[in-house]
Amino acid sequence: MKTVPYEQLDSAQKKLLAEAEKIMQRAYNPYSNFYVGAALLTPDNHIILGSNVENAAYGSTICAERAAIMRANAAGYRIFTKLAIIGRGRDFDTEDVSGPCGACRQVLHEFRQIAEKDLEIIISTTRKDKIVVTTIDELLPLAFGPKEMHVNVKKYQKVL
Ligand code: THU
Repeated sequence: MKTVPYEQLDSAQKKLLAEAEKIMQRAYNPYSNFYVGAALLTPDNHIILGSNVENAAYGSTICAERAAIMRANAAGYRIFTKLAIIGRGRDFDTEDVSGPCGACRQVLHEFRQIAEKDLEIIISTTRKDKIVVTTIDELLPLAFGPKEMHVNVKKYQKVL
């Protein structure tokens, strides 16, 4: 896991982060007032965005990262090269980056196994004063996935 100054991000990482920050404003967050934006990059340079969508039955809330994954799947994309995540409170910027929750890590791992390639994850504060560049393998070691169940999901790389 690396902490990288904003200026050292490459142009693809900067663009993805900017898109995540824009979509963060679309969070539906009446309960937490916390904003999260996620941007997925596909191998053919499509960007798929997600923001958190809360629910009065709190457990029915969907995080930005999973919202982006579900959108991507519906749009015909299951392979991703990068993911950018950014978050803040309504009235505060976070001091540290807010990494993906456990449920999101698990869902990202599923797609990492479909892709058969680790996924780069860029997580930033809204102030851009702390940026972590990591991967799903690093964030979810000893993960449980299709491989552990002897289920081969390679064929799902291709979307019908
Ligand atoms: N949230 C995300 O969107 N992604 C995460 O990985 C962590 C949490 C959202 C869910 C909820 O709407 C708000 O942040 C506070 O938990």
